[in-house]
Amino acid sequence: MTEAIIDSIPTSDMDYYADDLILDPYPFYKKMRDFAPAVWLNRYDVWFVSRYEDVTAGLKNPDVFCSGNGVTLNPDLNTGMGGNMVMQDAPTHTSMRKVFIKPLLPQGISEVRDQIKNSADAHIEKLVQRKHFDAVEDLSLFLPMNIVTNLIGIDDEGKENMLGWAAGVFNAFGHPDSPRTQTGMLDVKALMDYVQQKVTRDMLVKGGWGDLLFKAADEGKITHEQATFMMFDYMIPSLDTTINATSNAVWLFSENPEQWDLLRENPSLIPNAINEILRMEAPIRSFNRHLTKDFDIGGVTLKEGSSVFLSYASASLDERKFENPEKFDISRKNASEHVGFGMGPHSCPGSNLARLEIRSLLEGLLSRVKRFECGQPVRVPHNTLRGIKSLPVTVH
Ligand code: HEM
Repeated sequence: MTEAIIDSIPTSDMDYYADDLILDPYPFYKKMRDFAPAVWLNRYDVWFVSRYEDVTAGLKNPDVFCSGNGVTLNPDLNTGMGGNMVMQDAPTHTSMRKVFIKPLLPQGISEVRDQIKNSADAHIEKLVQRKHFDAVEDLSLFLPMNIVTNLIGIDDEGKENMLGWAAGVFNAFGHPDSPRTQTGMLDVKALMDYVQQKVTRDMLVKGGWGDLLFKAADEGKITHEQATFMMFDYMIPSLDTTINATSNAVWLFSENPEQWDLLRENPSLIPNAINEILRMEAPIRSFNRHLTKDFDIGGVTLKEGSSVFLSYASASLDERKFENPEKFDISRKNASEHVGFGMGPHSCPGSNLARLEIRSLLEGLLSRVKRFECGQPVRVPHNTLRGIKSLPVTVH
């Protein structure tokens, strides 16, 4: 493995999509942060930006770090899903986002708060009685798969397939040479067929978020084509992200029982604990941007048109920003400054919902569980997502 300066360009031949790197990415992130502010990954012809200051500066500068040419390394996906909100720049992005975010703002979330909290509590009561369960299958999947899909208002076929399709789409974010990208593209096709052929006005539950998109289109706030694409924006990022964050939470608390004791003594730390979980284990590794002009990062010139990885995961572990970044500390003063939800105009519009889901589950567990005893987590390499596939847990 080599890192070298070639023609004044910090270059690395590490494989961002190799299984072993994905399963244990932390040495790679550290190596990139220590080596240079921007490193050219020559296997895939893309820049890797890893330090907090540079990642956040890029995210907050959409005029140069634009999303309109796609946020993935896969040109077919950048084109095929180019109508999605996440792949737009202002002003189109602004008008779409205004409609999209409405049910996810604090007012909208307060309308579903009780439903989510009560469902979580009843579910945890049953799980805790069982004593042994899988933290992914039995716990983390519950709210996204049962409540969130209902709020979007999709039918049973959609619900049954959505998790597999969504994970496939995120795999398709990868470089076309990665085999996971190629299989992911099959899921992209299946999901696009489903949305385009089956997600009709009649099928969507009245008053659901999908229905609201089409009403906004009737009112001329967005186009009907945009409404269809925005269905993907509700469906794809709302599942695995939150599922992974929840199972990461169980794993982190089982590995750091004193932090669970602290949370039980002081439940007002829950919001900060959620930030710390997302800082330690960002569910999304990185998204891409394309440069609209030459841009200098710490003395390295990135050329116009280049594709750039902005690594949420590495930025949130940058020792220049977070003291002892590898320590899980739910009282950390600046945990809220993590980049797990992104930053700037594309920062996660679903963060209030995700926080409510994770919080509701943690609250249900806090009052009933003294200790988590976990078996080995099973991780499956994924091009974009960081999470656990299965985590056996015994609760005491
Ligand atoms: C813990 C859970 C979640 C995490 C870690 C997460 C993470 C992220 C990140 C890092 C971004 C930034 C993308 C960028 O920079 O281009 C983002 C954007 C986005 N997220 Fe989330 N997300 C989560 C939950 C959700 C949920 C529940 C929804 C939907 C209800 C959602 C919908 C979106 C959408 C549509 C965007 C694109 C926003 C835009 O382009 O303006 N996310 N998310």
